[in-house]
Amino acid sequence: MVTWESLEQTCANCSKCALCQSRNNVVFGIGSKTADIMFVGEGPGEQEDLQGEPFVGAAGKLLDDMLSIIDIDRTSCYIANIVKCRPPHNRDPEDSEQDACIEYLHNQILLLRPKMIVCLGRIAARRLIDSDFRITKEHGMWYQYNGIWITGLYHPSALLRDPSKRPETFVDLLMIRDKLHHLRNQ
Ligand code: URA
Repeated sequence: MVTWESLEQTCANCSKCALCQSRNNVVFGIGSKTADIMFVGEGPGEQEDLQGEPFVGAAGKLLDDMLSIIDIDRTSCYIANIVKCRPPHNRDPEDSEQDACIEYLHNQILLLRPKMIVCLGRIAARRLIDSDFRITKEHGMWYQYNGIWITGLYHPSALLRDPSKRPETFVDLLMIRDKLHHLRNQ
């Protein structure tokens, strides 16, 4: 039976793909293990690799602001990534790297059993929602993942690069807040 401890330990020693050779730290995930909402990014960047925590760089600061719009903070959600080790030069994780790593995330979702998953960016949405997911058209739409409500938002890094996407994301965040309140009161 997989436990949080055994999963984190296995992940810490993982050498299933070449990303293990260049990593400083495995970035397993962080937050409340009883959270009802989970955020999934694509993979650690430089700061995350150095500190061993997801979303601690510039995108992480924006993510904190996004969480506050939903009335939550890092202690009341769980944050993880599709791949747990940093792809060199922040390139997109390759399919083979995602394939090697995805079982860790599947087990994290099984252990957490959240009411809602929010994919941050195209990579996570394509892996968890639909391999053809179009972030520009489908952000903020609701889907099901093994009985769990799931949606995709623009990645915080995309919002830093292109602030014109922020108003749409604000609307998506309010909708997530409302749906979470509704699910909690069911
Ligand atoms: N971007 C991600 O997708 N994940 C992180 O943990 C940090 C930046």
